[in-house]
Order: sequence, then C-alpha cells, then structure tokens
Amino acid sequence: MQKLIIEGGIPLEGTVDVGGAKNAVLPILAATLLAEGEVALSRVPDLRDVNTMLDLLVRLGVEVERTGPGRLKTRVVSEEEHTAPYDLVSRMRASFCVLGPLLGRRGRARVSLPGGCAIGVRPIDLHLKGMGALGARIAVEEGYVEAEGPLGGAEMNLAGPHGPSVTGTANVMMAASLSSGRTVIESAACEPEVQDLAAFLNAMGGRVRGAGTPRLEIEGVSRLSGCTFEVIPDRIEAGTLLAAAAATGGNVLVRGAKAEHMTATIETLREAGARVEAEGGGLRAFGPERVSPVDVTTGPYPGFPTDMQAQMTAVLSTAGGNSVVSERIYPDRFMHVAELNRMGARIHKEGSSAVIHGVEALSGAPVMASDLRASASLVLAGLEARGRTAVHRIYHLDRGYERLEEKLRGLGARIERVEDDGTP
Ligand code: EPZ
Repeated sequence: MQKLIIEGGIPLEGTVDVGGAKNAVLPILAATLLAEGEVALSRVPDLRDVNTMLDLLVRLGVEVERTGPGRLKTRVVSEEEHTAPYDLVSRMRASFCVLGPLLGRRGRARVSLPGGCAIGVRPIDLHLKGMGALGARIAVEEGYVEAEGPLGGAEMNLAGPHGPSVTGTANVMMAASLSSGRTVIESAACEPEVQDLAAFLNAMGGRVRGAGTPRLEIEGVSRLSGCTFEVIPDRIEAGTLLAAAAATGGNVLVRGAKAEHMTATIETLREAGARVEAEGGGLRAFGPERVSPVDVTTGPYPGFPTDMQAQMTAVLSTAGGNSVVSERIYPDRFMHVAELNRMGARIHKEGSSAVIHGVEALSGAPVMASDLRASASLVLAGLEARGRTAVHRIYHLDRGYERLEEKLRGLGARIERVEDDGTP
C-alpha cells in the first residue's frame, strides 16, 4: 500500500491540465458493448476505475488496444459471455452499467449486485425498474441480477427518493437504444456525464433526444456502429483543483475546465471568497487570505455536486466563521469528518449535515482515506494545514484522480507518494 506525505501551508501557483471525466468514460466504455465495429476514444483518464471497467470488457469479449496517452480502441470480438462477475462489480459499482448494453445487444445479462460502499447503501432499484419497463424479465438470485429480453420501447419515470439516478439513467438509455420502439424517461438525470453518454450513443447512430433535461426520448435502432469520440473534461477533478487554490490562498489556472459544467461549484467558491475567472480555455482561481463561511447543500445537477462536498468541507474547515454543509444525495457521506477533526477541524454532524466551526488553521497529522472523495478532502486539508500530513490508503484516491500528487507538485505543493510501511 502507499501513502501521500504532504508539507502544508504553501500557496499553490501555476497551471494544471484537467483530465477526462471518470463518470463519463465509465458508462461510455460500457456502451462500447453495443457497437458493431471499432470505437476510438480520446481523453480517457488513466484511473483504477477505468482499468477495472476495461478488465470487465475484456471478460465480456471486447478487444482493447491502447493507442497513445489517453487514447484507446475497442472492438467486440465475441458475444458469448453475458456475466459480469462479483469480483469486478464489487470492486467498482459502475460495472453495473454493463447490464443495459448486454441486455440490449445480447438479449440477456447476469450482473452481480454492486453492494454498498463507504458513502452509502447504493441501491439499484431504479435500474431494475427501468429494465422492467422495457420488458426485461428480471430475477435476483444468489447476489446476481438475471435479466432477459427482448426489449421494447416504454414510458417510465425514474425519480428516486434522492432525485434522479445518474447511472440508472445511463443503464436504461443504453438498453433502450437497441430496443424496438420509442422510450421516454421522465425524471432522467441531467448531469454532463449523462449528456456525454447520449452524445456517444448518437455518434454510434443512436437516436437520443433531450439529454441534459429531465425528459429523455430514445428511438430504438437496429444496430449501433463504431465511432471516434472525445470524452468531456472531469468537472470534479477541475473543482478539486480550484478548491485547492482556494484552500491555500493560491493562484491556479485549471486548463480545460468547462465553466458551463461547474456553475454551482464556481458560485460556491466565489461565496467562500475565491476569485474564479474564465481564462485561456479553462478557469483561474485566486484564493483569499482566509475563506469565508458558506452554507452548502448538495443536489442533482445543476445543483452543488455531492462529489465536491468532502472537498468543500475541507476548504470551509478554516473559514472565518461557521458553515453548514448538507447532503441531499448521500446522507452518510461524511467519512472525512472524523479525519479532518484529527487535523484540528471542529466539525460535528447533525442529521445529514456537517456543522463546521471554522478554526484558524489545521495541523498536519496521519489520516486514513476511506473513499475516493474523502481522500481528496484529506489531501486538500494536508495542503492547507501547518506541518506534515500522511494520507494512508490512497488506493481510494487513485480510483478517480490521475497522478494527483504530480499535478499538485507542478503547482508548488510539497507532496510525495511513498510506500506505506505502517508508520504514521
Ligand atoms: C453516480 O453514481 C456517480 N458515479 C457518483 O460519483 C455520484 O456521487 C452520483 O452519481 C451522484 O451524482 C458514476 O457516475 C460512476 P445515483 P450513481 O444512482 O449513479 C439513490 C464519485 O465520487 N438511488 O445517481 O451510482 C442513491 O442511493 C462517485 O465519482 C436509488 O435510490 O448514483 C443516491 O442517494 C461516487 N435507487 C441517489 O439515488 C437507485 O436505483 C443518487 O444515486 C439508484 C440510486
């Protein structure tokens, strides 16, 4: 195992490039199962989760060829296999997104239930509701979802208790693309990543309309061909880098960040006292001397992203006043709070909110990562803290950030990755 050692208190300065969006490329890779012919993808981030999805595609009869930095080609060479096994789906929930393509293309699927994770229970009832509406016969046995087609068009509403489902919308959109008939999904997720998947399906010859709105219309087609496609930039990585500038009183240009995907994040950073401006095809953030307190509530897009909540909590832990951060998507997504408090933060939970009493400064300490965005939160805390922080179990971080410590070192941070010999 490895850990990150961070000497904090240095304002970040310079320019950094944002990579491809993890949460766009994962369903897009699943959608390559639908294609007859070669798919060429670019701006594919080098992440553990991407490698897990590629392992799964190979098991499902897809040939994968890496053709350069951030570039790869896929081609379906066998359609015999229709099982997505527990060892891969349990490693990464997004593997469940192969259900729709397998059902739509191969007529049957056997996919392990994804189970829960550190941020919550993570149900898949809306995925199954959508597949059932398309006519799939579904059984859940021995920890697996067994589903059989054929699929026909249908009208459905995929609203859940915490809003739409991002991968639920993706799964059903992919299945409906190769069904016979017209499908309408009400209460569809509007995230940029869902819009990118719809654009990818249409590039393959699909007929998806309304992406980015709560009403999706999909005309099923008889075949989807290969295509060439560039993945959108990662708005959460970009937000994390801007937050790092805000937390350290720095001045950072995040090249490639798409402002139109990040309005809530930008506004919240501005409320916290950072200056955020469009520049050179990206976004520049100037951090304040000390951040101001802000009340934040996460919500479905275009609301404040739950995937930025842990990072914003770290930034607000040294604000000149009290903030309340409320989670409307994952009420238990606060594993980072106990670790931030070990660094001198004063945060306590009240229901699905974290009440943050801003402190003068955090102090470096050995801390433990528990999940992807909690890891990012602890890195930000280490960058702003006085002294040395060791973030353990950073395999969580590597799931969704490509060489984050190298990008931060390029901005002047004193941070390095070392083998974790168990010492603090
Ligand atoms: C996607 O997860 C993202 N992952 C998550 O990012 C992100 O936090 C989440 O959307 C919300 O924006 C990928 O895209 C790979 P949901 P997903 O289905 O699709 C409830 C990260 O850090 N729900 O939109 O699995 C669920 O419990 C990851 O990059 C149901 O009730 O999330 C949650 O409260 C973490 N029934 C809410 O809906 C269902 O069938 C949103 O979940 C499905 C979900």
